[in-house]
Amino acid sequence: MTVAATDRLIRPHGGALVDRTGDRPDDLDALETVALTSRELSDLDMLASGALSPLEGFIGQADYERVIEEMHLASGVPWALPVCLAVDAAPSGDRVVLIDEGGRPVAVLEVDGVFEYDKEREAELCFRTTDEAHPGVARLYGQKPLYLAGRVTVFERSQPEFPELARDPAETRRIFAERGWKRVVGFQTRNPIHRAHEYLTKVALETVDGLLVHPLVGDTKSDDVPVDVRVECYETLLDGYYPEDRVLLSAFPAAMRYAGPREAIWHAICRKNYGCSHFIVGRDHAGVGDYYGTYDAQLIFDEFEPHELDIEPMFFEHTFWCNVCGSMASTKSCPHGPEDRVFLSGTKVREMLEEGDVPPVEFTRPEVARVLIDAYRQ
Ligand code: ADX
Repeated sequence: MTVAATDRLIRPHGGALVDRTGDRPDDLDALETVALTSRELSDLDMLASGALSPLEGFIGQADYERVIEEMHLASGVPWALPVCLAVDAAPSGDRVVLIDEGGRPVAVLEVDGVFEYDKEREAELCFRTTDEAHPGVARLYGQKPLYLAGRVTVFERSQPEFPELARDPAETRRIFAERGWKRVVGFQTRNPIHRAHEYLTKVALETVDGLLVHPLVGDTKSDDVPVDVRVECYETLLDGYYPEDRVLLSAFPAAMRYAGPREAIWHAICRKNYGCSHFIVGRDHAGVGDYYGTYDAQLIFDEFEPHELDIEPMFFEHTFWCNVCGSMASTKSCPHGPEDRVFLSGTKVREMLEEGDVPPVEFTRPEVARVLIDAYRQ
């Protein structure tokens, strides 16, 4: 691969792809340990791979303040959500070992400060609510009281749950370049791909060179469809309905925050690091319950200067199947009324799948429905 080929792709956020992998230090046993939650571990892995470029570690107070207040790092680079490590007390040394949930040492952090934070303030600014019923807010309220900042060096990467789908930003960039793609649209999802999602991705693909289907595989809330079932849905759908040479399926190792608008910005920036020039934002992106307006996650992009983010969002209205048009559509492209639309609530779909009933093809492809039925009926 020539350097020139990857050079045609969008530049990583902040200019260069960060690599925070490194060697296991010799003095590991002498260092104090800090245990990470599974969300912090997925952040750590993304710091290692450069998915969170330009971040090199868990952020310090100056970055934190500017991120939560103004959606920028202290350097002025846009950044939408804090990437922080919560601890009970300040460590005594200037380096600590980060350990995973099984107690295994995975990284070293060079201590750059410890600071107090106000959970309600962070919740209000980042999640637009202080309601503990919000899953992201509940997680924040359950955290330890101080943030520990510092650059990390990861010497033991997490074992990916789906090794065949695990690709770091450097690798997706290499694949895009090999395939001759320059304009690549990224698609975030935490659900099985139904007809509406399929429509967005295909409409977007019509205007660019390639599509990165990039399902989030980190922590989600317990009533979201489990990741192994979703992965089977993605593979089945892509096999049957997408051209192999235009699509790459790969895992996005982040945990869901359910921060709606701010998470849409954060998702877009991460996908830019993976080499995407465009990013799909539909209705209520990364939303939960009714905390966010249907298009809040699109409107927030206007809070940045034109081209400041560099990655181009592709906005979609709420899409549905229209029986009169005989196709997927939205109110932007279809003049017919709600009575002509196929609408199924999440609850209704779940009931059908549990009963072994295949939802209409206008809602989901039968092959995908079959995977879901098999999973629900086990
Ligand atoms: S998300 O939490 O990852 O955003 P989901 O997997 O449901 O949830 O959505 C993936 C992407 O598809 C998001 O950009 C979302 O806005 C978009 N989307 C989902 N369903 C629709 C729909 N019916 N119409 C338009 N956009 C949609």
